[in-house]
Amino acid sequence: MAKTKSAYFCQSCGFETAKWLGKCPSCNQWNTFVEEVIEKGNSHVPTWKSPSGTQRLSKPSKVEDIQSATEERTSTGDLELDRVLGGGLIAGSVILIGGEPGIGKSTLMLQLALNVVGKKVLYISGEESEQQIKMRAERITTQPKADCFILTETSTQNIFKQIEQLESEIVIVDSIQTLHSAHIESTPGSVSQVRECTAELLRFAKETNTPVFLIGHITKDGAIAGPKILEHMVDTVLQFEGDRHHIYRILRSIKNRFGAAAELGIYAMQSSGLREVSNPSEILLSQRDEELSGITIGATLEGARPMLIETQALVSVAAYGTPQRSATGFDTKRMNMLLAVLEKRCGFRLSAKDVFLNIAGGIKVEDPAIDLAIMAAIISSHEDIFISSKICFAAEVGLSGEIRAVNRIEQRISEAEKLGFEKIFISNYNLKGLNKDKFKIQIVTVSKIEEVFSLLFG
Ligand code: TYD
Ligand code: MG
Repeated sequence: MAKTKSAYFCQSCGFETAKWLGKCPSCNQWNTFVEEVIEKGNSHVPTWKSPSGTQRLSKPSKVEDIQSATEERTSTGDLELDRVLGGGLIAGSVILIGGEPGIGKSTLMLQLALNVVGKKVLYISGEESEQQIKMRAERITTQPKADCFILTETSTQNIFKQIEQLESEIVIVDSIQTLHSAHIESTPGSVSQVRECTAELLRFAKETNTPVFLIGHITKDGAIAGPKILEHMVDTVLQFEGDRHHIYRILRSIKNRFGAAAELGIYAMQSSGLREVSNPSEILLSQRDEELSGITIGATLEGARPMLIETQALVSVAAYGTPQRSATGFDTKRMNMLLAVLEKRCGFRLSAKDVFLNIAGGIKVEDPAIDLAIMAAIISSHEDIFISSKICFAAEVGLSGEIRAVNRIEQRISEAEKLGFEKIFISNYNLKGLNKDKFKIQIVTVSKIEEVFSLLFG
């Protein structure tokens, strides 16, 4: 019988040690070590071996001598996913997709498996039975493509056997936490198993030039479960997020070796699967028949994509001693900061008021260019005076009430113009290098928050 031994793994970064430690010397986290049984000796031998069996000896080569290969990209049949990947799928790349349970990771991947053209796809599931996957497939499409194969298996050794037989051209694994390799004793989902299985799949992807998608669970604080090292190993990390009570889902790239990070794809979850949303602004702006106070529109940018987003504020007299402050889709701390600026710099008495803030569509905005729209919405509700729905805002606000410049202002202005807005408020400091005559939309430049309010409310 093989001699077994155990080791301690840091659950945060994957650091391995023979003895238990209170503090991880690698990532300085406390109490993260957990004992896992690993098999002695061959624990680091990956199971994937190149078919030829010969080992290639690599030699150093001059940069100038290396042939630059134009990376060929395959379309996934999903324009949003293609965009997030940087223009399509690259051969041999390993892509990790993380997201909360029930957000739609399995649906997204199954949809890809059923729709991609001319590629043999193997969808490996360790979470659902074949029947469950079939039921889901029937919801998504009535005419699945012929060469999509489903495998319910969790042992990597068996998986590689099947992949070889099938000669699949794209592999999808749902999820990496359910796989186990016979080379490691510990349970599926443990740090050493996740690391080993990923290493095996990575080796396979690079040697056969097959793209591999891995679905990853996330922990309660939003990180991908398993060691951080997992994110370092793969080529691309995508995050699938959204509010489960809303229909919109956002696919965000966090790391991408083959394209820009912070790229964004938007989907709507319908009863027949995920639908691509190619023009987000049109949905995120509600169709208003009458003008209401407390609503403004911010010209934000997510990744390289301009989006006009509606912000709604409600300011009312606090019914109890401590006023309530709550924000959905926006950082509450930042909202408190903006309220303090309004109080101190503009003299609005908001300290005894409840303030509620909502970003339409269940979208979370991190772009600071939405600051001015939020402040205008708060004051509009506070004063109960509406702001025309033809006006939008794109500027950050600083602590002393100064209106600060934001990046890629031209893109924001063009998008606002395209959507029929008549006026956009931007910072004075954004004027440098901006060709105002190019635009038909009226561009209002401001440098202080007070100016904005005197222009809006007179
Ligand atoms: P799923 O892909 O199972 O999520 P994950 O793999 O991230 O855990 O998505 C499940 C949710 O999506 C579930 O709540 C039902 C919903 N859904 C739809 O609304 N429409 C559909 O066509 C499908 C397949 C799922
Ligand atoms: Mg799933």
